[in-house]
Amino acid sequence: MSVARYFETMDYGPAPEADAEARDWLKRHEARFGHFIGGAFVKPAGGAYFDSMEPATGALLAKVAQGEKADVDAAVAAARKAQGPWWKLGGQARARHLYALARMLQRHGRLFAVLEALDNGKPIRETRDIDVPLAARHFYHHAGWAQLQERALADQLPVGVVGQIIPWNFPLLMLAWKVAPALALGNTVVLKPAEFTSLSALLFAELAAQAGLPAGVLNIVTGDGGTGALLVEHEGVDKIAFTGSTEVGRLIRAKTAGTGKALTLELGGKSPFIVFDDADIDGAIEGVVDAIWFNQGQVCCAGSRLLLQEGIAETFLGRLKRRMGSLRVGHPLDKAIDMGAIVAPVQLERIRKLVATGAAEGATVFQPENPEWKSLPAGGCFFPPTLITGVQPAATVAREEIFGPVLVSMTFRTPDEAVMLANNSRYGLSASVWSETIGLALDVAPKLQVGVVWVNATNLFDAAVGFGGYRESGFGREGGREGLYEYLRPRAWAGREPRAVEPAPALRVASAGFEPPAIDRTAKLFIGGKQARPDGNYSRPVLSPKGALVGEVGEGNRKDIRNAVAAARAAEAWSRATAHNRAQILYYLAENLSARAGEFAGRIGAMTGASRAKAAAEVEAAIARLFSYGAWADKFEGAVHTPPLRGVALAMHEPIGVAGVVCPDEAPLLAFVSLAAPLVAMGNRVVVVPSERHPLAATDFYQVMETSDVPAGVLNIVTGAREGLTKTLAEHDDVDALWVFGSKEASATAERLSVGNLKRTLVDHGLATDWFDPAAAEGPILLRHAVQVKNIWIPYGE
Ligand code: NAI
Repeated sequence: MSVARYFETMDYGPAPEADAEARDWLKRHEARFGHFIGGAFVKPAGGAYFDSMEPATGALLAKVAQGEKADVDAAVAAARKAQGPWWKLGGQARARHLYALARMLQRHGRLFAVLEALDNGKPIRETRDIDVPLAARHFYHHAGWAQLQERALADQLPVGVVGQIIPWNFPLLMLAWKVAPALALGNTVVLKPAEFTSLSALLFAELAAQAGLPAGVLNIVTGDGGTGALLVEHEGVDKIAFTGSTEVGRLIRAKTAGTGKALTLELGGKSPFIVFDDADIDGAIEGVVDAIWFNQGQVCCAGSRLLLQEGIAETFLGRLKRRMGSLRVGHPLDKAIDMGAIVAPVQLERIRKLVATGAAEGATVFQPENPEWKSLPAGGCFFPPTLITGVQPAATVAREEIFGPVLVSMTFRTPDEAVMLANNSRYGLSASVWSETIGLALDVAPKLQVGVVWVNATNLFDAAVGFGGYRESGFGREGGREGLYEYLRPRAWAGREPRAVEPAPALRVASAGFEPPAIDRTAKLFIGGKQARPDGNYSRPVLSPKGALVGEVGEGNRKDIRNAVAAARAAEAWSRATAHNRAQILYYLAENLSARAGEFAGRIGAMTGASRAKAAAEVEAAIARLFSYGAWADKFEGAVHTPPLRGVALAMHEPIGVAGVVCPDEAPLLAFVSLAAPLVAMGNRVVVVPSERHPLAATDFYQVMETSDVPAGVLNIVTGAREGLTKTLAEHDDVDALWVFGSKEASATAERLSVGNLKRTLVDHGLATDWFDPAAAEGPILLRHAVQVKNIWIPYGE
């Protein structure tokens, strides 16, 4: 074609990026890769390899080792051996290593970008301008945290050996998100890349070793889901960090339950992209392009549900369709394309099926005519940009994560309706809000149940800003200060020992004299601000260590828990109360507990056999703790980040919602207060199961609550048998978080049964906490688990 002709048509010619260096690298390895263990490539123990294909052409790119048990064993052993020395190196030395890795990524930026485009099918424009620079930024940022660790994170230790499992949509970037914080903070890693896209991880490990990273610090075991499962089950792994499908996330939650392994899950999404009628329409249309056609829509936080205010819907969709017509689909190495190939035939098939389901369910499917369609590489996995309109909120395509370039569109009338539609999803990863009215955008942002909100923008990421989901989008954060704690454990909990459990005493009835008995005071449950008889109308005795009857409490059952959860759910206004207001109520509780300190000490003494002085000390400590949480209520705040991209990001501490708390038997008042108060201080509503053996301190406490203006439903108390009540709380889909302190068994039950709605759990695995030690039982150590961080990106200073 002549220049004049190009000028006339304004067509692009192909602008292919050279791939010689990447192909040379493959050739140097004879296009066959073992695992990277202990600082070198090693052959797979079983000798099996699988094919890794080029999505754009279907051609074989390389053979990659299939990891088996012996390979995972070797990698975990190498990581274990390296962990001590790596931690002992100190923050400054680790910072230098991380800095070297960042520089290495930049030095070899083009090689990584080309290899990633070949292996994944994504456009070189994206790998070159987004994946690689963001990966480098992650290593720079975390090099800084390594440098500061000894001062800024002095109360924390590394978790140890971390198993990391990543998906195929951002192979190098996901590696960076996981490896950079883990290594910076003194952990060592065994990483399993996704089977479709192992190559950039292998290149990274090889170049990291050349850049001086000590052997065993970063190990790569390649393979499929079976290899991932071996890593999850390995006893030598202290933590699993997973990104991928919600289905596999659930499996991993169930498998790690009760093992003591820490876990973070970054799962799927079906994120809303909300456009109000006063939005900058052209800006919002470009936003949609970035939201759903970036990386062919294979993005966990893709804005895949377009919610348009009714008045602009028709115009918007018309302009969007025109814009879709100008999107170019082509070979990933062509610098002038917008969309490359889908990662693999199986994913292409999944997308096709879901789109066909959408049509079958009555929606209208739009795909632009693409003149280049016929010239796409044969054998490649391509799918056109797709818009589905006329979609009902209950339709499959409106609910399921399609993970492809497919946008579904719906309309709304009012901001409230927009919020309702946006939250009508089991996921909660991200949302985009478009409006030129700052008041509207910032009114909607807090109401969205998602971990990330972009105002007049979409798909912005930075190492300094946390990323992660609410609800079934998983738990834990990557990036940001909150992301660091996912790779740390508190020093104050490091030396905890299994708690000694005294055998339960048998009831001994002393013969009564002719003195008039004390007036019977029946302890009830406390639900929705009222004393309530247990549904089953059974009671359980509370005995002194010698077996004397101290009193009786209700035997709570499944129905009581359900009632308490419903009351807590209804007390939603507490989550919106000001921090000042919450603080006032915690102080008031302390004041009223103090007025009855003697009575509480007597009760504790009678139930536990503690001396008068010890019981009084426990009450004093509980009063002090309530004061502390009154203090923390308006001080455990979020942060404002200033990422390099644009604007600022507000990292807001939001309550998780309804939390269940199961208390241990020791220090029955202090532990109860220590666990309930941080949750209440942060705006959660709580259902507490007090100490099974010594519950009367908690049931007496509801009388303190009744005189302290605690709104109904904020703090509910259900007494009874720990195991059964833990099970009901764990299975309840309206409970968002569950803390279990007490027994190993209840901890395991809580983790195992929380898979339904993927609730956030905090359990002690039967290890005893020193409730009198503020370092171990007060402040951020628990407050961090009482909030979820929502990062809201807003334009600022532009
Ligand atoms: P996947 O969840 O099966 O794979 C993610 C990673 O987990 C891969 O490394 C895989 O080998 C590993 N894995 C698979 N089964 C495992 C197991 N039982 N134990 C441990 N590790 C295991 O996702 P897949 O099959 O690649 O994609 C299926 C769907 O999942 C996609 O269509 C998409 O909807 C969703 N997905 C979502 C992602 C996200 O970031 N939200 C990322 C990848 C997939």
